[in-house]
Amino acid sequence: MNYKVMGIAAGRKNGNSEILLKEALMECEAQGAEMTMINLRDYHIRDCTGCTSCTKAMSEGKNAGCILDKKDDKKRIMDVMLKQDAVIFSVPTYDLMPASTYLTFAHRSLSYETAFLETIGAIEHKDRVAGLISVGGSTRSWQSMALEGLQATMFTTDLNVVDMLLAERVPGSGQCLLDDDLMQRAKTLGAHIMEAVKTPADQRQWLGEEDMGWCPNCHSNALVLGEEQWDGLHYPVECQVCGAGGTLEDDGKGGWKFVIAENGLLKDRTTVSGRAKHLKEIEETQGGFYGNPKSLQLVRERKKKYMDKKFKTIDKGGTKE
Ligand SMILES: Cc1cc2nc3c(=O)[nH]c(=O)nc-3n(C[C@H](O)[C@H](O)[C@H](O)COP(=O)(O)O)c2cc1C
Repeated sequence: MNYKVMGIAAGRKNGNSEILLKEALMECEAQGAEMTMINLRDYHIRDCTGCTSCTKAMSEGKNAGCILDKKDDKKRIMDVMLKQDAVIFSVPTYDLMPASTYLTFAHRSLSYETAFLETIGAIEHKDRVAGLISVGGSTRSWQSMALEGLQATMFTTDLNVVDMLLAERVPGSGQCLLDDDLMQRAKTLGAHIMEAVKTPADQRQWLGEEDMGWCPNCHSNALVLGEEQWDGLHYPVECQVCGAGGTLEDDGKGGWKFVIAENGLLKDRTTVSGRAKHLKEIEETQGGFYGNPKSLQLVRERKKKYMDKKFKTIDKGGTKE
């Protein structure tokens, strides 16, 4: 079988993200995959306007697409990306998190929300595999939300993350080439991607370092104190990426481990059924709002005060493209 693998970079031309990505992709190519690679910096992607016309249509059982579909390159990229068996993302870390070039691209994916579109019967389910590479000038400490930020954008299009690589201490363009272990690890990530695509979807497993991160479910390194959710569900501790709930327990070695509760994967965002529960929440909050003429009227009346209020602002100048 001919597997399709795509690489998406978002850093400098011939910089670390591109080089590490190519190292991983070359391994996939060597194993016979059909390759595609882009750098998001070469494309025009506009910001999501926040109009929510896509999800409003979905809540009425329709797939309306995005109002910007014909205005930039997002759809052109998604039409190829969604046909892939695997996608590897390689993104520089800016201010502890994925660079905005990538985030702008990712935040335009709401109109492709596969769990929502599948729920209304607009698309067929397709299992996809993902590998993530975050690249920064510092260690984990200054890349604290980098991989987690990438992970958080994978659910929308059903990308199952099987491996993640944090490239540390490579600030200079191409500096990763001086670190043989790092380059080897990128190649291994490519091999893991191929191993995963060749495995039946229901048997695919995490292939990165077994002990990576706090969360045994998604391997993120980010936990938060749980708070009561919209439907009353409450866990003492939550994984801030996948939403697994549980608590911290003594690991018997002088440290702590995150133990997922029996019902802790009820809203696991890495699964379609977990995300479909979020659709319920949206139906209740957003649907409850737009579908209630009384609340809409009240908001119209109360909003006037804020629409009429103006503060001193800043001249736009003539630089906007
Ligand atoms: C605006 C900006 C912010 C950055 N912030 C971080 C950061 O918070 N943590 C970090 O480790 N590196 C940071 N860096 C360094 C880049 O992540 C690093 O240079 C990386 O190698 C860039 O990848 P590239 O070669 O693919 O462009 C920052 C760089 C820039 C330009």
